[in-house]
Amino acid sequence: MITINNNTKYKISINADKCSRCGTCVDVCNEEIFKIEDNQIKIMQDKECKACGHCIAACRYGAIQHNLLPLNKCPQFSEQNQPKLEEMVTLFKSRRSIKNFSSKPVDKSLIEKLIEISRWVPSSQNKQSVDWLILNKNTEIKYFSKKTVEVLFGLSKILHNPVYKPFINIVLGKKKYKETMHSAVSFSDLNKRYRNGEDPIFYNAPVVLIGYTPSNVYFGRDDSIYASYNIMLAAHKLGLGSRQIGYFIVALNNNTGLRKQLKLPAGCIPQVAIILGYPKYSFYCGVPKRTPEIKWGIK
Ligand SMILES: Cc1cc2nc3c(=O)[nH]c(=O)nc-3n(C[C@H](O)[C@H](O)[C@H](O)COP(=O)(O)O)c2cc1C
Repeated sequence: MITINNNTKYKISINADKCSRCGTCVDVCNEEIFKIEDNQIKIMQDKECKACGHCIAACRYGAIQHNLLPLNKCPQFSEQNQPKLEEMVTLFKSRRSIKNFSSKPVDKSLIEKLIEISRWVPSSQNKQSVDWLILNKNTEIKYFSKKTVEVLFGLSKILHNPVYKPFINIVLGKKKYKETMHSAVSFSDLNKRYRNGEDPIFYNAPVVLIGYTPSNVYFGRDDSIYASYNIMLAAHKLGLGSRQIGYFIVALNNNTGLRKQLKLPAGCIPQVAIILGYPKYSFYCGVPKRTPEIKWGIK
């Protein structure tokens, strides 16, 4: 188990017998931890190491020792065992957001495997701050689905209230107001679907994963989205289907009581939710997606 946080003291040393003094560690380190002086690599202990490990990864001589990143825990790979680009693109194209699940349960070990895979993503300041709450009890998933519908329906009633409407329009501006009112319609539609016996939030998925971070992590949401996309791609490769559920996060962000019911560790906030399960249907082709515009330069 690797634990890295701001309180962890780092200790780096260089094996002088192995070090060639090539200076690669000096160049790749973002924090100026390494310096060449008198043809020796010096470690600046007063600088803050973010434990990104670029120094270790780029040292072809294996000369750098880091107490937080032991060499025997560093994954090894070579050019030969990298997937081909076409294989990766096929994976990207064939992953879809799934909402029809079979009744087959998802093994706990698979969920743990996916979370282990979620670690290999960039994170702001290498904080690696994302942890996961897993809901895999039907009663709990049903409960949060019902509550999400209630919270969002409550929001839609406020947004549709003729007394508030003009104020909301002024505060949000014309464009954002239109978008918000569109959401309000979809929130009340969720309520109708729920009353008709559907689960319009989690689609009766057997598992819901909630990525959370300490609330003071500046880019906690971005970190969580990266981690969850690794999960979604790897899940697809394992024959599982997934879907990001923004509605749940909107409800949690708008209702402190509901958020508290997740019983996340103190100071943590939910950042992303994904549902997971075995897909009921196979997909036989991809579909075209919008071609992004490319603007070269600012002229
Ligand atoms: C930020 C974000 C929030 C989303 N929230 C929901 C949601 O609340 N409910 C839902 O059914 N799908 C949700 N989705 C899934 C999108 O609807 C889906 O990605 C989109 O339709 C494209 O389909 P694809 O992923 O199969 O290509 C969300 C996706 C993203 C990226």
